Amino acid sequence: MHQYEAVAGTQAADATGGPLSGCVALVTGASSGIGAATALALARQGVAVALAARRTERLEELATAIREQDGACVALTADLCDVAQARQIVEDAVDRFGRLDVLVNNAGYVAMGAFEDGDPEDWERMVDLNFTAVLHSSQAALPHLLRAAAQGPRGVADVVNVSSVGGRVVRKNNSVYSATKHAVCAFSEALRQEVTGRGVRVGLVEPGLTVTEMATGPGSAAARGMPQNAWLQAEDIARGITFMITQPPHAAVNEIMMRPTAQEH
Ligand SMILES: NC(=O)c1ccc[n+]([C@@H]2O[C@H](COP(=O)([O-])OP(=O)(O)OC[C@H]3O[C@@H](n4cnc5c(N)ncnc54)[C@H](OP(=O)(O)O)[C@@H]3O)[C@@H](O)[C@H]2O)c1
Repeated sequence: MHQYEAVAGTQAADATGGPLSGCVALVTGASSGIGAATALALARQGVAVALAARRTERLEELATAIREQDGACVALTADLCDVAQARQIVEDAVDRFGRLDVLVNNAGYVAMGAFEDGDPEDWERMVDLNFTAVLHSSQAALPHLLRAAAQGPRGVADVVNVSSVGGRVVRKNNSVYSATKHAVCAFSEALRQEVTGRGVRVGLVEPGLTVTEMATGPGSAAARGMPQNAWLQAEDIARGITFMITQPPHAAVNEIMMRPTAQEH
């Protein structure tokens, strides 16, 4: 049994006229955690999904689960720290499905700890992936999203940038990650003002502690005394993203901060 079978359940893709039916989405960081849960949730809404990340096997496993539910998808192996690849995944998704309606910039990396002990390679990786890749994928996607908004049946298109509570709230031992996520926040609002009049909604999603490889792996040190059974699940964030992009065309949910109820800060 592959890991997605349990969450996939018996729900087949809803290709029968929901708000996202017939749309195409590109989800970065789709090989695990929030990105994988989001791709699965969108596929169930009848969205054809392009899945981007480095781990091909994990992408293929998710692609199989989506296809087994009659969804359409393509796995795009890419290292988004490379700006050419961060742009190329957009073209690959459009080549495969002919259009792009939704870009979810979700891939991310965290290395926590005191700044004075930090590894500059970690800083670069966080800046390259959490921020620079978002710029490149977003710029490459804009012509396609603007076209979808102008000509597509929905009348809108969406960029969703997955930031973090750390993109709003600064804490020690999280300096560089927090800086990259604040940058995503500032960028998202400026981009929103530039394109919203042309029907491209830009939304920011800011998860709190969520059970994923990132938050539970070495170097995360993020638990802050909360038992893991009180954290959010990746599917909770996927639900927030789905809520954001299934609004009617005149309604733009610009920001969702979603914390576990037990998380104070
Ligand atoms: N979990 C939390 O508590 C939490 C809280 C706030 C915000 N977030 C944000 O949520 C987003 C998703 O993270 P997650 O929690 O779901 O963690 P995750 O399970 O570790 O997912 C991270 C994703 O990013 C991909 N990735 C990492 N480096 C990459 C690279 N160089 N090129 C392409 N893809 C790369 C990973 O795939 P590969 O390794 O296969 O490349 C993976 O699919 C991140 O932006 C993160 O900052 C998470």
